[in-house]
Amino acid sequence: MSTTTSYKPREFNLNGLNGISDETLEMHFKLYEGYVKETNNLTEKITKFIEDGNVDQEEMPAYSELTRRLGFEYNGMVLHEYYFENLKSGGGIGDPERTAKFVKAAESSFGSYEVWKADFVGIGKMRGVGWAICNQNPANGRLSNHWITLHETGNIAGFDPILVMDVWEHAYLLDYKPAERPKYIEAFFSNIDWVAVEKRLQQKSTRSAGA
Ligand SMILES: [Fe+2]
Repeated sequence: MSTTTSYKPREFNLNGLNGISDETLEMHFKLYEGYVKETNNLTEKITKFIEDGNVDQEEMPAYSELTRRLGFEYNGMVLHEYYFENLKSGGGIGDPERTAKFVKAAESSFGSYEVWKADFVGIGKMRGVGWAICNQNPANGRLSNHWITLHETGNIAGFDPILVMDVWEHAYLLDYKPAERPKYIEAFFSNIDWVAVEKRLQQKSTRSAGA
């Protein structure tokens, strides 16, 4: 009997973003749903392999392949949820207020918000398929920016994603040419939900303070 619980796709209302069309989002939600579905499918298949309490030698190649793919699908699901969650329906305010906790954290980790942003945007422009992520180290509150190849290579274990930007071409191809990724990044920044970002930071600082 299967003991796994299926994931259900979360719903996001993100109509009316600046520079990222509703058509793009509709397509993007469908892709996200595909990751949720595949995460469930793979988990179910892997569960079948192990339900007799053993992975037989002849099962090992198939079991290994499914397990490797699980990292891709699982991160594809989770990172899209972070991404949609840090966008604001109707568009945002651009850069955060100077008094925002995020700005303070960027200043103590990078010297200034501007330097943090140059790094994050620079990572977003890197060639290849993946994500730019600003993480916080829960041990000391420090922010660091990272490039993630596909969905799973480059994630830092135990760090908390604070701001997540999808730079796969599907995130902007209906609105921009492949070479216009900088325009998409600009649009992304104008739509950031800084309240959601602050909440992520806050949860982390509370946790660190209690640690
Ligand atoms: Fe995506």
